[in-house]
Amino acid sequence: MIAIRQIHPVFVGEVSGVDLRQPLSQEEVAAIEAGMDRYAVLVFHGQNITDEQQMAFTLNFGAIENARGGHIAKDHELRLKKGMIDVSNLDKEGKPLARDDRRRMFNLGNRLWHSDSSFRAIPAKYSILSARAPASEGGNTEFADMRHAYDTLDDKTRALVEDMVCEHSLMYSRGSMGFTDLTEDERAMMKPVRQRLVRTHPVSGRKSLYLSSHAGNIVGWLVPESRDLLRDLTEHATQRENVYVHRWQQYDLVMWDNRQTMHRVRRFDETKPRDMRRTTVAGDAMTAAQAEAA
Ligand SMILES: [Fe+2]
Repeated sequence: MIAIRQIHPVFVGEVSGVDLRQPLSQEEVAAIEAGMDRYAVLVFHGQNITDEQQMAFTLNFGAIENARGGHIAKDHELRLKKGMIDVSNLDKEGKPLARDDRRRMFNLGNRLWHSDSSFRAIPAKYSILSARAPASEGGNTEFADMRHAYDTLDDKTRALVEDMVCEHSLMYSRGSMGFTDLTEDERAMMKPVRQRLVRTHPVSGRKSLYLSSHAGNIVGWLVPESRDLLRDLTEHATQRENVYVHRWQQYDLVMWDNRQTMHRVRRFDETKPRDMRRTTVAGDAMTAAQAEAA
């Protein structure tokens, strides 16, 4: 029997009583979905799964998101098969990427608070991350509950952001790290998309702040004033009491709802392998109308 125990004062459930290597029953899938709706992040321990098993588990919750446009690695450089997102620090031969490798520079953007795929017109629903070989030191993943962030805004700010629309692009998050070494094709791939700043969860009806380091502008605002407000909101959303720190053990699997949370990874020794593999459940709708093509 699946059981879920809340392990943080605000959100996050720890799940026991399920083996993710096996096909799940409808009841088990429903219990996990209900847990996601409530806790927004679920932690499973001791799940020594293969890529195939991870993808099969992912498909219980929707389609697997197409990874195109989300990274700068070339097809022939990919270590993992289609459907798997490589969030390790490894090249195709399983060796840590060189310090100055563009892919490493690009991946450093994951150290910023973000919501996965907020740079897509239809952003991701869930992310599912499996620790095949976590870092021995550092490399924690931190999560912030964006419902709690919304609930704890003052009335004036809540009214201010209610109908705001932001522009999100990988160019903004990478640019804020000082990584601007992009080709014309990459720039074209990173065309900004629009996202509402306040989202409403389709099941619980709870509102949340939809922030991400990919957000670089508020529609109708000047860029510096947009970034000032976005930074202020991010600081509010990521106060310690609203953050869960996950310290990875091998074969942990953590799934989170990108519609209700932000996350970031912390520094670790990048000369040693850190093998983390993600699958992503596609979302089903845009949050805002997109800009007309110029
Ligand atoms: Fe991420």
